[in-house]
Amino acid sequence: MLGQIGQPLVHTLNLAHLMPLSPVWAGPARNAHLDGPPLLLAETSGSTPFRLSTHVGDVGHMLIVGPTGAGKSVLLALLALQFRRYAGAQVFVFDKGNSTRAAVLAMDGTHHVLGADGTLAFQPLRGIDDPATRSWAAEWIGALLVHDPRRWRAILRRQVPQESKEMA
Ligand SMILES: Nc1ncnc2c1ncn2[C@@H]1O[C@H](COP(=O)(O)OP(=O)(O)OP(=O)(O)O)[C@@H](O)[C@H]1O
Ligand SMILES: [Mg+2]
Repeated sequence: MLGQIGQPLVHTLNLAHLMPLSPVWAGPARNAHLDGPPLLLAETSGSTPFRLSTHVGDVGHMLIVGPTGAGKSVLLALLALQFRRYAGAQVFVFDKGNSTRAAVLAMDGTHHVLGADGTLAFQPLRGIDDPATRSWAAEWIGALLVHDPRRWRAILRRQVPQESKEMA
């Protein structure tokens, strides 16, 4: 016994307590609510990958907490992009500090800076009676037209006949 100081005796009962009796949980195979695969498949420190699904029944709420710079925004962007695997998925992000700007642009999405002048602005055409704001608005609307021509073509197709009828 003296020769085995660094190697303590393990009783078979201790060994039984240490033995895994079930396999590692690999996460749900499907997202029943969205009738599709899990949100993403993640690599783990072990040999079993993990299937992440944020839904419990029909509720997909989640909370991400972590120290500054831990990777919360990157994780959120990853979850948002992975969500696009579901048919007809749409993602709207209320972004803080341009965290998802790169991900949005990479997905060919539209990123609007609402608080460019330091204050929040959800009504971009509010100050349109001011000439300076009006010229900014003209450029902004022009940029929207260039960015999403199909949508605006549909609006114009509807709007122009209506306006010309009213003018006549
Ligand atoms: N899985 C990852 N692997 C490598 N780098 C990562 C990973 N996740 C995040 N990073 C890098 O870590 C840095 C901080 O990430 P991120 O901005 O997501 O953190 P955060 O938790 O949102 O920070 P804050 O609390 O300031 O908002 C970024 O430069 C990002 O590129
Ligand atoms: Mg962040």
